[in-house]
Amino acid sequence: MSLWLVLRVQLNDSIFAIAAISMGSGCHRPKMPSAVSCCCRASVDTPPDPGGKIAALYVIARRRLALTHASSTIAGLRSVALEVPELASLERFFTEVWHLGIAARTENAIYFHATGNDHHVLSVHRAAAGVARIRNVTLRARDQVALAKVAQSALSAGGRVLSAASPVDEPGGGVSMTIVDPHGRILRVIHGDERRAADAPQRDRPIRLAHAVLNSHDCEASRMFLEQALDFSLSDRTRIMAFMRCNSDHHSIAFGDTDNDALNHVAFLMPDVDSVMRGGGRMRDAGFPIEWGPGRHGPGNNAFNYFIGPLDIVIEYTADVQQIDDSYQAGGPANWKWPPGRVDQWGISAPPSERLKAAQRGVSFVGV
Ligand SMILES: [Fe+2]
Repeated sequence: MSLWLVLRVQLNDSIFAIAAISMGSGCHRPKMPSAVSCCCRASVDTPPDPGGKIAALYVIARRRLALTHASSTIAGLRSVALEVPELASLERFFTEVWHLGIAARTENAIYFHATGNDHHVLSVHRAAAGVARIRNVTLRARDQVALAKVAQSALSAGGRVLSAASPVDEPGGGVSMTIVDPHGRILRVIHGDERRAADAPQRDRPIRLAHAVLNSHDCEASRMFLEQALDFSLSDRTRIMAFMRCNSDHHSIAFGDTDNDALNHVAFLMPDVDSVMRGGGRMRDAGFPIEWGPGRHGPGNNAFNYFIGPLDIVIEYTADVQQIDDSYQAGGPANWKWPPGRVDQWGISAPPSERLKAAQRGVSFVGV
C-alpha cells in the first residue's frame, strides 16, 4: 500500500511540474552487516495513470529529482591547505612515504599533486604557530557563476564571506571565494584552476582526495550549513557521523559528532584495496603504524587504513568508495549498528587507537 503525494517541483527558475510521488514501504539498505533494519523515505514510484498526464509529468519530475544527489554549485573536493611550523620534514614525508609529487613550491609553501588531474591536492604553508592548523578545505565549483551563488547562500545560511571572488594568487590559479561557517570552518570555492595531465593510476600512489572529515560540536548545524550554503546532500547519518555528498562519491565531506571543531582527518583515494594495504606496509616501515585498520567502513563501503602523520596530522588511505545516485536511501543511526565486537564490515579491525583519537582533535582551523 502506497500513499501518493502530489508535489510541485521546480524544474528551473520559471518552469514547474506537478509530480506524483509515492511514500513506498519498500526500502533498500546496501552492503550492510547483519542485524540492521531499513528506513523509509519518499521515493519515486510508478505513477497512478501509466501513459497519462501525471505519468508524463512524473517522467519530467523524475529526471529532475534524479539530479538532486549532486550539488548545483560544487563539483567536488579539490584540496586541503595546512599551516605548519616547517616545511622540510613535510616535504620528505609526503613525497617519499605518502607518495605525492611536488606540483609547485614557493618560499613559504609546498603544493603536492596526486596522480589525478588536480593541480594539487594538498598544500603546506609555513606559519608561526608551533603546531599544524588547517587553513582551508578547497572545493571546486561547477562554474564561475556558482561563486556568487555560494556567497549569497552562505550568508543566508548564517555564514560569512571572508573574501569575494577574485583571482587566486598562488600556484594552480583560478578564481576563488572563501566562506566561513558559523563554527569557524573555512571553505574555499575555486573555479578555473589549472589541471595537470593525469598519470595512469599507480598502485602505490594516491589519485586524488577522497574526503575530509571535520569534527563538529553541533553536527546538525554543520550539516544544515553545508546543505544550504553549498547544496550538499546527506548520504547517511550514523550515531556519530553525518556523511555529505556533492557528486557520485558517497561522501566528500563528513562531520563527526564531538565536542570540538577540529580537522578529524583527510582521506586520499588509492586505486584499489591492494594499494591501501601496500600503503599500510610502507607507512609501517617508515615508522607510522596503522592506527585504525585495515577495514571496510559501513557508510561509503570504502576500505581504509588510518595513520598519524607528521605533526599529528591524521591521514587515511582509502579505496572502493561507493558510487551512488538518487536511488540511494539515506540511512539513519538505527540503520548503522555494528554487531558486538565489530567496527568494520570485514570484522578484522580493532577500534581506532587512543593515539588516533587524540590526534583527531589536535588540528584546528586557523582563527578568522
Ligand atoms: Fe575517512
